[in-house]
Amino acid sequence: MARPLISPSILSADFARLGEEVRAIDTAGCDWIHVDVMDGHYVPNLTIGPDVVKALRPHSEKTFDVHLMVSPVDQWLESFAEAGADIITIHPEAGPHAHRTVQAIRGLGKKAGVSLNPGTHEDSIDYLLEDIDLILVMSVNPGFGGQSFIHSQLGKIERLRGTIDRAGLDIQIEVDGGVNPDTAKLCVQAGADVLVAGSATFKGGEAHYAANIAALRGSG
Ligand code: DX5
Ligand code: ZN
Repeated sequence: MARPLISPSILSADFARLGEEVRAIDTAGCDWIHVDVMDGHYVPNLTIGPDVVKALRPHSEKTFDVHLMVSPVDQWLESFAEAGADIITIHPEAGPHAHRTVQAIRGLGKKAGVSLNPGTHEDSIDYLLEDIDLILVMSVNPGFGGQSFIHSQLGKIERLRGTIDRAGLDIQIEVDGGVNPDTAKLCVQAGADVLVAGSATFKGGEAHYAANIAALRGSG
C-alpha cells in the first residue's frame, strides 16, 4: 500500500509553545504542517490568523498546509499567502464564487485546495477540478479537533480517486478529522494521498511524536 503524507494539525499542539511544537513535529518526520484557521462564523470555534502563521514560518521549511474555515474568505487570501502558506484550502460553501477564489489563490503563486464537508457531494466541485491542486475531504464536521471519524466519507474518497485517475488530473486527496492509525489505513485503501491528524500526532507529548507519525503512515 502506498505511504501517505502526514500533515499534523497544530490545533492539538500546545498553543503556549507553538513554535517549539512546529519544530518538534518537523524533527519527528511530518511531511506537511496543517494550520486550522477558524473564524467563529463559518464554524463554531475561533483559532488563529495570518500573524501566527507568519510567526511560525521560520520554525519549519516544510509545506504549510493552511485550511481556512472562514466566511467570507477572499479578503484573507493575500495575508495568508504573504505569511508563508504554501497551500491554501477553502470551503466552497463559505463564499459565493469558489472558482474565483481558487483562481485568486493560484494567482498569488500558491497551491489551491477545496474542502468537502461530510454532507457535501463530490459532484459539487466537478467544475473546479481543472483549477485546483488538492481536495480536502472532511471526515468530521469542521470546527474542533478530537472528533470521531465519519466512515461514510470513505466512499467519497474512493469515488474522487476514480475521477482523478480516470481524468489524469494532478490533484492530491487529503483527509481531515478523526484520523488515527486504524482510520488512516482505511483512508489510504480508499485512495487518500495525505492525512491530517491532530490528536493522533500530539498524543502523549513530544517523546511520542515520531512514533505517532510513523504509525499514521503505516510504518510504525
Ligand atoms: C477540524 C479541523 C481538523 C482537526 C483534526 O475542523 O479541520 O484539522 O483539528 O483534528 P483531529 O485529528 O483531532 O480529528
Ligand atoms: Zn483542518
